[in-house]
Amino acid sequence: MSVYQKKQHDSVSEDIVWHNTAISHQDRSRANQQKPVVLWFTGLSGSGKSTIANAVERLLFEMGQRSYLLDGDNIRHGLNKDLGFSDQDRVENIRRIGEVAKLFVDSGLIALTAFISPFVSDRQQARSLVKEGQFLEVYIDTPLEVCEQRDPKGLYKKARAGKIANFTGIDSAYEAPVSPEIHIRTQGLQVEQCAKLVLDELIKLSILEVKD
Ligand code: ADX
Repeated sequence: MSVYQKKQHDSVSEDIVWHNTAISHQDRSRANQQKPVVLWFTGLSGSGKSTIANAVERLLFEMGQRSYLLDGDNIRHGLNKDLGFSDQDRVENIRRIGEVAKLFVDSGLIALTAFISPFVSDRQQARSLVKEGQFLEVYIDTPLEVCEQRDPKGLYKKARAGKIANFTGIDSAYEAPVSPEIHIRTQGLQVEQCAKLVLDELIKLSILEVKD
């Protein structure tokens, strides 16, 4: 059992005491003049999560919103480079990202995360780390056939050929969100249209204000 697997099952020692920081979450949100939330993008590999999340972040930036995008492939180069794609490693991947997203929200930013995050229970766990209303699940709904046809990194082809094991949608499960706050059916839409739909939903949900 690796160190993180062992730790995962341990509870926090009673010798470790939580300290409140001098500047509160409310102070930081007010200073940034925005509502900090997690925009949790989920969807199959090749569904467009990262591309759409990037386009959403660009629109937010242009509106003066302060944000940070945590992207699956990038995070797996650093913080989570010790993790693979077994169910257990994916659970740990998402657990860490949930914690990091929580810190970003606490710092007054909008955290965008773009991970397959295939399991309902892990997304639920990430949701439970922030306050009610601060976690918005954004389901990038692109059918498997379309993702496989696009195959931007040639990974579906490798998975079908048996060269990659545990590939999501092929021999590893993807549990689609049941009632995501934002549901984007990407078929027939361009990236910019999808990003705009996300923004419209954020306005409807009163996360973003439209200033004249
Ligand atoms: S997650 O399941 O743990 O949330 P994550 O989003 O971090 O996955 O990483 C997914 C990316 O890793 C995919 O877009 C793909 O580029 C790459 N990848 C490599 N191997 C696999 C695999 N077995 N299953 C899914 N994605 C894989």
